[in-house]
Amino acid sequence: MQHNQAEPYKIKVVEPISMITKEERIKAIKEAGYNTFLLKSKDVYIDLLTDSGTNAMSDNQWAGLMLGDEAYAGSENFNHLENAVRDVFGFQYVVPTHQGRGAENLLSRILIKKGDYIPGNMYFTTTRTHQELNGGIFTDVIVDEAHDPRIEIPFKGNVDLNKFEKLINEVGADRIPYICVAVTVNMAGGQPVSMKNLREVKALAQHHEINVIFDATRCVENAFFIKEQEEGYQNIPIIDILREMMSYADGCTMSGKKDCLVNIGGFLAMNDKDLYIKATQYVVIYEGLHTYGGLAGRDLEAMARGIYESINEDYISHRISQVRYLGQKLIDNDIPVVKPIGGHAVFLDAREFLSHLLQDLFPAQTLAAQLYIESGVRSMERGIVSAGRDKNGSNRHPKLELVRLTIPRRVYTNAHMDVVAESCIALHRNRKLIKGLRFLYEPSVLRFFTARFEPVE
Ligand code: F0G
Repeated sequence: MQHNQAEPYKIKVVEPISMITKEERIKAIKEAGYNTFLLKSKDVYIDLLTDSGTNAMSDNQWAGLMLGDEAYAGSENFNHLENAVRDVFGFQYVVPTHQGRGAENLLSRILIKKGDYIPGNMYFTTTRTHQELNGGIFTDVIVDEAHDPRIEIPFKGNVDLNKFEKLINEVGADRIPYICVAVTVNMAGGQPVSMKNLREVKALAQHHEINVIFDATRCVENAFFIKEQEEGYQNIPIIDILREMMSYADGCTMSGKKDCLVNIGGFLAMNDKDLYIKATQYVVIYEGLHTYGGLAGRDLEAMARGIYESINEDYISHRISQVRYLGQKLIDNDIPVVKPIGGHAVFLDAREFLSHLLQDLFPAQTLAAQLYIESGVRSMERGIVSAGRDKNGSNRHPKLELVRLTIPRRVYTNAHMDVVAESCIALHRNRKLIKGLRFLYEPSVLRFFTARFEPVE
């Protein structure tokens, strides 16, 4: 029997949820154009759309909100955030932003010139879009295994050093301003990167004078996998693992809405003073003054406190164990999922789940809509719709066609996970009856957010 790790907290405030009827759900998803992003939250029973900004804050964080110093400039809460980032991540300079993509925008504008190449361990939607908007060319350098949901190896988010080196030889290091290393890799299924790989990436990049920038969005979850699975780290505190990880980067972008345990916030951090000075010039245009970056003082305080809570050993261990609890239940019932189970979500393999549907009929989008109809569980497409179109206008066809069941931090119990698993199992039983979708409306950028679909008969 699976050992069930109990929550390392008790519940002080509750938010009621309830399920509307199946007829109402069918109507709601139709009105939402079969896009779970367009559903009303009140029509959702268990919301696994994302782990972004959906965290439950602690009593200590809520208390911190009352200590917001809402001065326009030089807020005390900024100092707290800066100290937390220096202490836990080891970066000297911090520029707050309203969320992760705000930091990506600043970084891309500062570092990328037209025609530059940006290698990365698989793309993330907003990250790649900012790179491309600034004339950059994203190049995937993740290990091949990451594109196959069935291959079960540890550290499936690793950078393939041969691919990275090949790109350097082909285009020249002077056309690669930085390599973007995501820890963990969201689109690959929340897969971590090993410390050894981070060390090697840094050595190769440094040799060619290429910056290493982490997408640190889920870095604490990555640190947990290193502690658990990489030789020599079992007895090292999470905070020290995190510090070592960050020592192999020149800077990072951070969406605080994930591992920093807040509902809004992010930052760009770095060690280079020139880069920092440029960032302070851009942040005032796009976000706000360099000491608040589009956030209220109270938000900065909640993030500073969240950073310390996120490295608590009991917290992070329970976090990963809850994601695995759901994943294991699905595996035990022969539901196709990405293996191994990653840090923030369980990913259904829609390509296999709906193997009778061609990718151009949007199997993952279809499955997400059907799961909502089945049980009011909201999930997210991470496949052909998210991948968008290439420069020539044709659909990108990613190997991974996934539905993400993303677990918010400290929000649901394992009883909720049981409901989710049972509805996936029920749907799987009747999968052959499910038909695909086609576009009714397709936005030109980041289309998955607001696209509308209709069923194909
Ligand atoms: N990087 C990664 C790896 C992310 O997962 C996200 C957001 C971002 C950057 C951008 O951060 O949302 O604060 O602007 N991921 C969310 C998700 C949207 O649902 O996976 P943001």
